[in-house]
Amino acid sequence: MPQSPFRQDILNGKVALITGGGTGICHGIAHSLGKHGAKLMLMGRREEVLKDACVAFAKQGIEASFVAGDVRDFSQAEKAVAATAAQYGKLDILLNGAAGNFLCPTEKLSSNGFKTVIDIDLLGTFNMSRAAFTQLKATNDSLILNISATLHYQGTIMQSHVMAAKAGIDALAKNLACEWGEYGIRVCTIAPGAIGDTEGMRRLAPMGADKKIASEVPLRRLGTIEDIAHAAVFLASGAASYITGEILVVDGGAWLVKPAFVDRATWEKLAAKS
Ligand code: COA
Repeated sequence: MPQSPFRQDILNGKVALITGGGTGICHGIAHSLGKHGAKLMLMGRREEVLKDACVAFAKQGIEASFVAGDVRDFSQAEKAVAATAAQYGKLDILLNGAAGNFLCPTEKLSSNGFKTVIDIDLLGTFNMSRAAFTQLKATNDSLILNISATLHYQGTIMQSHVMAAKAGIDALAKNLACEWGEYGIRVCTIAPGAIGDTEGMRRLAPMGADKKIASEVPLRRLGTIEDIAHAAVFLASGAASYITGEILVVDGGAWLVKPAFVDRATWEKLAAKS
């Protein structure tokens, strides 16, 4: 991991519960929160994956435990929060990262396929936030950090289920920011763009599509897991203490780009004539 731009102790004393923290982007965020001083509780469906992640974290001096569970089940969400409080005595940061995705044309998507992604992403975010409320309120300087997307800012084909789920997460976050602000709970969201070397890219952009995507991003590269992790450290830190209800898009400017009807050289010729 490249050197962090943040002071290493910026999150000292914080406790973070991270869903989906065993792999991918949320594993990277967990690593970064831990490297900056937070103690971690990882939650996910696969116990072996979580155990391996905790062993690897321990070797790097990061204190981490895990609780196996499915965010779709409210009682398992409650169990994860209780395990965090039992282990560390409090909860400062809830990271809602567990997500499901696959490409599917809507006319072929079953009702259960649609529901499955809504349940993991949106219901899971509600379940974890609702289950964590009492602990987060007791901390009175806490953060719910959701991982959303930019897919639903425009129409993204084959992603109706994910677009609906992420739009719901964004709406829920605005609500909770207003309802729970008075309890010292901030609610922020990171919307990653195309992030290299992730399960999402393997599922959604196979066959070299990543190079094409990178060439079209204004900053001319794919994102890295560290790009997202650094955004998370910032939002979890005191530097963001007056930020709530915000969605921080970390996509190199990608979602702003409209399809060009002519290439840049042609635009420049036209500009020179005008
Ligand atoms: N295309 C269309 N439908 C699909 C599908 C696909 N590729 N994958 C699953 N489904 C449908 C199933 O057919 C099923 O519907 P049905 O009962 O009408 O047949 C429904 O979704 C549930 O599938 P199931 O495999 O039982 O769900 P699960 O809870 O075991 O897995 C998924 C959840 C489907 C989201 C799975 O892809 C997953 O666990 N992913 C986790 C990791 C991930 O997606 N990461 C990407 C983050 S960007």
